[in-house]
Amino acid sequence: MSYPFSQYQASANYITSKLDGFTPDVVMVLGSGLGFMGDLVENPIVIPYGDIPHFKVSTAPGHKGQLVCGTLGGKKVAVMQGRMHHYEGYSFEDVSYAVRVLRLVGCSTLVVTNAAGCTNMDWEVGDIMLITDHIKFFLESPLRGENLPQFGTRFPDMSHVYTPALQEVARQSAKELGLTLRQGVYCYFPGPQFETPAEVRAARILGADACGMSTAPEATAAAHAGMNILGFTLLSNMAAGILDQPLSGEEVNATAEASKGKFSKLILSCLEKM
Ligand code: HPA
Repeated sequence: MSYPFSQYQASANYITSKLDGFTPDVVMVLGSGLGFMGDLVENPIVIPYGDIPHFKVSTAPGHKGQLVCGTLGGKKVAVMQGRMHHYEGYSFEDVSYAVRVLRLVGCSTLVVTNAAGCTNMDWEVGDIMLITDHIKFFLESPLRGENLPQFGTRFPDMSHVYTPALQEVARQSAKELGLTLRQGVYCYFPGPQFETPAEVRAARILGADACGMSTAPEATAAAHAGMNILGFTLLSNMAAGILDQPLSGEEVNATAEASKGKFSKLILSCLEKM
């Protein structure tokens, strides 16, 4: 099923009505550990997802479920504290619904972060990876169904989903902060189960450096809608089968918690420069 454009517009109109003339430029979808950045927003206007007509609510633990609009790093932002995942039972259109709505509200840039398993054997847990591209061809697209030309074209080009100029900003910021910044390909898996070791090996052969359960759907919808995109992955664990130890949500959260200082500094620096 796909939603009519009028539904997206109704959600956007509600948000706009709450913003009192403020128009955000950057939508930030923050993954595990980084939700606190919403609390750093200056002059915040907070809108619970549940109040926005037709909006989806996130059920994942640690995801607050509210939109925080205001200023961060000198930019006008709309921070999504909590995102929707396909594994929660949402369709891919639902997962990327908020990004499309915020496009209508006025955002032209998406900053997206996640935690993911590291499939690159040369890298370490706790490293941050700049997403240069993604693989998501196993499952349907968020753009499936009737095309909504108000967002973009039927067959959108995906040659540069992650905006080259924003990647350059990230490299520059990391350099100035003295941070190691890995660069690589994020492979989408639907979850909620972690991958099998064979799936991780397959992903590596296909060219993936990380595997995770988010980001690619939202980035696809944002690219369709002509948005600039900057994406980062926190490599929260070595992917399944690399180390002789089981994977757990607790390990992911512990790494996210331990890395949130450097990760948030990097994102703030990028906001200041872009
Ligand atoms: N796989 C998929 N998603 C994840 C992982 C992983 O290893 N770690 C954190 N999110």
